[in-house]
Amino acid sequence: MNGEFRVKRKRIRRFSTYRVLEHWGIILTTMILFATGLCQRFWHLDLSQWFILKLGGIDNVRLIHRYTGLLFSLQLFSNVLVGILGVLRGRWQPSMFITKKDYEDAIHNIRYYFGFENQPAKCDRYDYMEKFEYWTILVGGILMIMTGVILWLPTLVTRILPGEFIPAAKALHSNEAMLIFLLNAVWHIYNSIFSPEAFPLDTSIFTGYISRERMIREHPLEYARMEGVAPEELEKNVPGETQSLKVGVPAK
Ligand code: HEM
Repeated sequence: MNGEFRVKRKRIRRFSTYRVLEHWGIILTTMILFATGLCQRFWHLDLSQWFILKLGGIDNVRLIHRYTGLLFSLQLFSNVLVGILGVLRGRWQPSMFITKKDYEDAIHNIRYYFGFENQPAKCDRYDYMEKFEYWTILVGGILMIMTGVILWLPTLVTRILPGEFIPAAKALHSNEAMLIFLLNAVWHIYNSIFSPEAFPLDTSIFTGYISRERMIREHPLEYARMEGVAPEELEKNVPGETQSLKVGVPAK
């Protein structure tokens, strides 16, 4: 686009303060929900009994779990609402939607890992893995809210729905909690802490900033758009740097 393009920014604003605070809020509420929920499921363990007694007994634990669940529902609802309003007002693109390109990028990267491609896929603001993570957490969260409300208000619910919904909701709520817990522990924590690209911590969601190098490597399409250049220009005009910009090479 323009041969004089030179990248000057060392770090780029990726998340607003609102998103940083929102992420902190979700970390806190899910940690409380896991702790107060799992100690009920595994009530027979010494650790659970110690924890329940520390919180003043099972009634307190149930109360904390329910009202934190309410807070979690508000957080999820506002996340979706703010996203939709931002798109409708033209403030940002619907960048979290899964498109055909995500499937193509996934296949491209598998081919890249096997050495059939020279370059990893060029992704936009969110890559296919980030989208997968977001949607599993969102859909999982909505299911937890629906089943949680059924467990909270069983008599009200059975005025409308058959009684079988109560044990079904309990099984779903309890087992899905384990699924989300493992998914979070294995996938999300690995990606943001232990993966070679992030280790010791991907700080972008805490500081709101990401390094230019990571931006070029992980979100080249968005970065090129921000700079008003074609994606190929990024590599041409940053000599030396892009040589290390391959998937699997730790970011500085
Ligand atoms: C990440 C989200 C959540 C996790 C990980 C979670 C986890 C759990 C677990 C493991 C149990 C114990 C189930 C058993 O005894 O086998 C439980 C029970 C329960 N949860 Fe959740 N939960 C979550 C969200 C919610 C929400 C959003 C609500 C309410 C809107 C809620 C309301 C309840 C209720 C009412 C119970 C039954 C125990 C009681 O009577 O207090 N939970 N939860």
